[in-house]
Amino acid sequence: MTTTLKWATSLLPPVLRRTASGAYLDLKSLPDRIRDPSRWREPWQVVHNVGGGDFEKAGQQNLGFLIEHAGLTPAMCVLDIGCGTGRMAAPLLDYLEPGAGYVGFDVSRAAVSACRKRFGARRDDFRFIHVDVRNGEYRAAGAIEETALAFPANDGEIDVALATSVFSHMRLESIRHYLDETCRVLKPGGRFMFTAFALTADRVAAIAEGQAALAFQPWEGGAMVVDPRSPERAIAHPLEALEAAVREAGFSLPAGAIFGGWLPPTQYAGGQDLFVALKP
Ligand SMILES: C[S@@+](CC[C@H](N)C(=O)[O-])C[C@H]1O[C@@H](n2cnc3c(N)ncnc32)[C@H](O)[C@@H]1O
Repeated sequence: MTTTLKWATSLLPPVLRRTASGAYLDLKSLPDRIRDPSRWREPWQVVHNVGGGDFEKAGQQNLGFLIEHAGLTPAMCVLDIGCGTGRMAAPLLDYLEPGAGYVGFDVSRAAVSACRKRFGARRDDFRFIHVDVRNGEYRAAGAIEETALAFPANDGEIDVALATSVFSHMRLESIRHYLDETCRVLKPGGRFMFTAFALTADRVAAIAEGQAALAFQPWEGGAMVVDPRSPERAIAHPLEALEAAVREAGFSLPAGAIFGGWLPPTQYAGGQDLFVALKP
């Protein structure tokens, strides 16, 4: 997008900005869709914008991370927090054995209904649930605070939970609550793979030098945001605070943070930083 267009769209309220950016991403995807007809299956970003890039490739790549880093196997029951338009549901549908179970939930009605339409008839052990939760970027009119949501799963029901590119849109107190809820619904020995933007002193200096893929600026409590008018558009949190939140929820973090490509040096092939929390 040109700089002027980016600036103009940044003045719009979040829902309009994301719709405009979704329409732009859809237009940009047309040549690829024409070259590779399998890409017509990809959901339109104008309906619910989960960000650019190759939708199916990113889903397959994240499935690989789940297998490699979170020990996912085909018989496991999965919770997909902020499932969006099914970037992870699509590869999981082929990977998980019938009856293994999958629960995806999201604050966006459009996203959940797109998932139900695309996947609902194919597997009755895949459930997509809309939660009427308030998020400044994705659902400003939500009725429930993020810090009050009871996840749609029973205690100890889930083997592996994931939240890809969701905590990067949440404040720390909300992340703390989501970690507590994830710990509640996981089986003992269960793992939670999530992504976030993590800050250290060196990384803050690198951001100031313009090395990051996103233009983060200082915000509250040591966090950084791309747009202070809509902090949930993209939030980076201090690594120490993220690690402490993980431990306070009852998890351990055996591999620490694995740094992604948004800010070099990069430790794995994904964009955001990767965390795999283990429930004892
Ligand atoms: C960048 S998209 C990523 C979607 C999906 N995880 C993926 O990787 O394709 C962020 C998603 O989180 C959802 N979301 C935002 N806040 C949420 C919250 N508090 N609880 C659940 N979902 C949330 C948004 O509606 C959106 O679908």
